[in-house]
Amino acid sequence: MPLLEVDEVVVRFGGVTAVNGATFSAEERRITGLIGPNGAGKTTCFNVITGLQRPTQGTVRFDGRNVTRTPVHRRSHRGMARTFQRLEAFGSLTVRENVRVALDIAGGLRGVLRSQTAQIDHLLERVGIAGYADERADSIPTGTARLLELARCLAGDPRLLLLDEPSSGLDEHETDAFGELLLALAAEGRAIVMVEHDMDLVMTVCDEIHVLDFGEIICSGSPGQVRSDERVQRAYLGQSDEENTRDDLAPFEATTTIPAIGVG
Ligand SMILES: Nc1ncnc2c1ncn2[C@@H]1O[C@H](COP(=O)(O)OP(=O)(O)OP(=O)(O)O)[C@@H](O)[C@H]1O
Ligand SMILES: [Mg+2]
Repeated sequence: MPLLEVDEVVVRFGGVTAVNGATFSAEERRITGLIGPNGAGKTTCFNVITGLQRPTQGTVRFDGRNVTRTPVHRRSHRGMARTFQRLEAFGSLTVRENVRVALDIAGGLRGVLRSQTAQIDHLLERVGIAGYADERADSIPTGTARLLELARCLAGDPRLLLLDEPSSGLDEHETDAFGELLLALAAEGRAIVMVEHDMDLVMTVCDEIHVLDFGEIICSGSPGQVRSDERVQRAYLGQSDEENTRDDLAPFEATTTIPAIGVG
């Protein structure tokens, strides 16, 4: 049974249907990609999964339980953790202090006393940012701040990790290391769901990919299946017909990652 099941989720904001009947799942030990053009509904899906957004229709099940109406903190307690597309670290605290706060919260939730300094060092080393431990979080590069967010998530030892554009701000070498880290985190038994625009990373690490377009899942499958799917190519490249001139694709097309999706 999948750890996470999203079933026929619909989210409407007034006249805008951000998510339209999305159904997908994520399993332990696997990395699941959720991709799609800007505005496709990816972050809104994460908000529904984690409880920040109540869906208009549909169900979210976590570990076999219906959590659609479960508050955010309880989902977290049961083992969900996420990073945010817009960074959410405490800017005036150091990198180390940010992780300490996350450990305090996790420890409070579980009532476990830990050796915090060793834990912090371990988490910072694990994500590769130990060299920034004493820097203020608002002074570190964006890519490093994303890794800090991941360290804060890992402080709670989550079963499900939801990452919203985790590699943006990382250079090529850092992205390779990040991909290795994701594979190791999945091998430990975690389910990882990743929203990501770097197609090289997505195609390299994901076991399964779901493609959202205008709120609908238009394709689900292995990286190979997704890469060769015509609807996916149309959604990303807008090559199908005259009227397909969506402005919101422009920023996506401008990235260096598009050629990896392949057009023939
Ligand atoms: N709180 C909100 N109120 C109104 N509309 C919203 C709200 N949140 C998202 N939307 C709209 O819902 C749609 C999906 O947005 P969402 O942020 O989920 O897309 P996304 O796939 O994460 O895009 P991106 O790749 O740019 O991050 C967009 O049209 C967006 O403008
Ligand atoms: Mg988003």
